[in-house]
Amino acid sequence: MLNPVKVGILGLGTVGGGTVHVLQRNAEEIARRAGRGIVVTHACAKELNKTHPYSTDEMVLTTQLSEVVSNPEVDIVIELLGGTTIAREMMLQAIANGKHVVTANKALIAKHGNDIFAAAQEKGVMVAFEAAVAGGIPIIKAVREGLAGNKIEWIAGIINGTSNFILTEMRDKGSQFADVLAEAQRLGYAERDPAFDIEGVDAAHKLTILASLAFGIPLQFEKVYMEGITKISPEDVQYASELGYIIKHLGITKRTDNGIELRVHPTLVPNKRLLANVDGVMNAVLVQADALGQSLYYGAGAGALPTGSSIVADLVDVTRTLTTDPGNRVPHLAFQPNALVDLPILPIEEIESSYYLRLSAWDKLGVMAQVTNILSDNGISIEALIQKEPICGAAHVSVVMLTHKVVEKQVNKAIQTIEKLDGISGQVTRIRLEMLDG
Ligand code: HSE
Repeated sequence: MLNPVKVGILGLGTVGGGTVHVLQRNAEEIARRAGRGIVVTHACAKELNKTHPYSTDEMVLTTQLSEVVSNPEVDIVIELLGGTTIAREMMLQAIANGKHVVTANKALIAKHGNDIFAAAQEKGVMVAFEAAVAGGIPIIKAVREGLAGNKIEWIAGIINGTSNFILTEMRDKGSQFADVLAEAQRLGYAERDPAFDIEGVDAAHKLTILASLAFGIPLQFEKVYMEGITKISPEDVQYASELGYIIKHLGITKRTDNGIELRVHPTLVPNKRLLANVDGVMNAVLVQADALGQSLYYGAGAGALPTGSSIVADLVDVTRTLTTDPGNRVPHLAFQPNALVDLPILPIEEIESSYYLRLSAWDKLGVMAQVTNILSDNGISIEALIQKEPICGAAHVSVVMLTHKVVEKQVNKAIQTIEKLDGISGQVTRIRLEMLDG
């Protein structure tokens, strides 16, 4: 067997520790798969005095990033710094030094991946990022390699565990938003800035990557439509449930005749779909492809060992191809770099969806007729409608409607007109709805 491949790791936190743990405990199996051993020889940590449970006598510990990325002994650098500034600098330095890179940094790939891959291509090195999307689920490999014979039609995924955990706890236990978020932080699932989780930014990073792999388009994070879960009310969760739906925070990307839809938002999903039953911190990605049909990938989207599992899989991949002609390696974004196409990304007003609408209407003859007329004037057909009993003699009642599919700008126009009616109080709540059928 060849000498072991030497790995330098930037960041020995939760994921770094998990990665070293997986490498150590499965060392023999990993070497049998990769054709040679894989050992972490250098690690950069924030503090050297702290105990690092998986450090060994053979591992050089340092606080200097450059001692890893510029070290001639290191073959592969694992970037686990997070963020897009120092991490980007270090990644580009490692590439310039001819090192292969493995990363879990979704923000970095989503925002700067096009340049990073170009630099790697020029240097003939690999940048592997399985851990960047859905933690331990091998979704990158599935979409990039497993589905390579298919035309992918759409992807819909629960790709932020923290949001899914919050929605699940609110629904099942009636817990308060802030309490569940604090619990997710305590468990180590939430991002350093939890706004990334609850406002949809983290999911948007991951969706950007999935869309490029699915459709062979450049990474375009800035064009993702983002909406988080902060405005979901217990009322809407309850009404959705009465109508047979569960509210999930989804990342959705679809190929349409006019371009690519790229959107992250709360979505009503029929409660019989498997995706609707993915609860807690788990992730799941549903892919609709022309030859295979639907396939669902489910598993842990965060955590030390699950994320370590993905990182080690990338290390094995890189190790196996060290001697391959760079031109014959699996392309970073699934399609050959010169075969990427610049399909337009549709603005959110142009996407097509069904909608859940909730409004507060004056309980008086003619108000509903006005509302339904406005909907029909805008080409919106109602699929279901429920009017709730007025609470304790209140003058207004909640009306909930589900629409058939329509272009979003039509719904926006209708909502604007409905909100101006005398018989309507406050704003209309609008949540997108996806049937997720074949
Ligand atoms: N904050 C992320 C999540 C961690 O909750 O899914 C994994 O990317």
